[in-house]
Amino acid sequence: MTTATAQAHPNIALVKYWGKRDEDLVLPLAGSLSMTLDALPTTTSVTLDPSAREDAFELNGEPASGERLRRVARFLDLARERAGGEPPRAIVRSRNEAPTGAGLASSASGFAALALAASAAYGLPRDARSLSRLARRGSGSAARSVVGGFAVWHAGDDETSYAEAIDGPDLRMVIVTVDGSGKAVSSREAMRRTALTSPFHDAWALSAAQSLDAMIAAFRDADVTRIGRIAESNALRMHAVIQSADPPIRYLGPASVAVFDAVRRLRGEGLDAYATADAGPNVVAICRPEDAADLARALAPLGGVRVAAPGPGATLTAGAAA
Ligand code: PMV
Repeated sequence: MTTATAQAHPNIALVKYWGKRDEDLVLPLAGSLSMTLDALPTTTSVTLDPSAREDAFELNGEPASGERLRRVARFLDLARERAGGEPPRAIVRSRNEAPTGAGLASSASGFAALALAASAAYGLPRDARSLSRLARRGSGSAARSVVGGFAVWHAGDDETSYAEAIDGPDLRMVIVTVDGSGKAVSSREAMRRTALTSPFHDAWALSAAQSLDAMIAAFRDADVTRIGRIAESNALRMHAVIQSADPPIRYLGPASVAVFDAVRRLRGEGLDAYATADAGPNVVAICRPEDAADLARALAPLGGVRVAAPGPGATLTAGAAA
């Protein structure tokens, strides 16, 4: 049986993706920019099984069912559609080093790895643009995990909405895990609710596009202080618009806010660090490489800390077809 195995890493956005222009095609309201980490990878194998009538999905050794399985099967349908003919069903085995669903982007590494493993197994093109476009359909932020280092994901249309590498200064991210449990509201549902009910939604969309332009300029100048400032305000604006939904959604808890406050206090003491957080309670602090050890030490009392550097894009680890 044909098997292909791929590995991809989570990414943390410095300008966030929050809101879709097209839910089906997963086209974002605005572009976003992220760093792919060198930590917490997902490794996924896709084995084509000509005798199977349904796809199967195993996550961290446990068979998945319900919506989790359907999401993977729908994604494989997209790959099969691109392959044409009547390609076989597949067994997908995936292993995450990050806690699933806790705002540490396991869906990004997951769908980036799956896009590459499925493309190799079904004989689809494996250039970065094709992979990023396909990964996007599984989870928007996965479009960026296909790319190593720093990535800009263009808003665009189905053809042009993909992520590309952008040069930037070397950065470190200190991941502060304050809560390893799953999130209460999925980002898909929360994005939908924000768009439908928040009175601030249009302002958020405008601000996200402006933040991206400002961030790209800061990257061009390799200006870590500006990068950090834009990233922190963009993250807090995203959480503000999420909290303004009806019924409200709040991903940041007291322990998350304590990390934001600690980072601000450290900044007052001369450590040039900034904070961001995705759709979950965990916080990521951003700094220059030479400050990472001090920052990690200072934040350690507030949660589990782990320092990440820019990491590789999605790579095929076994089963490369020609
Ligand atoms: O890829 P999704 O649908 O899980 O969206 C996640 C969006 C955030 O992580 C909150 C922000 C981002 O840009 O990664």
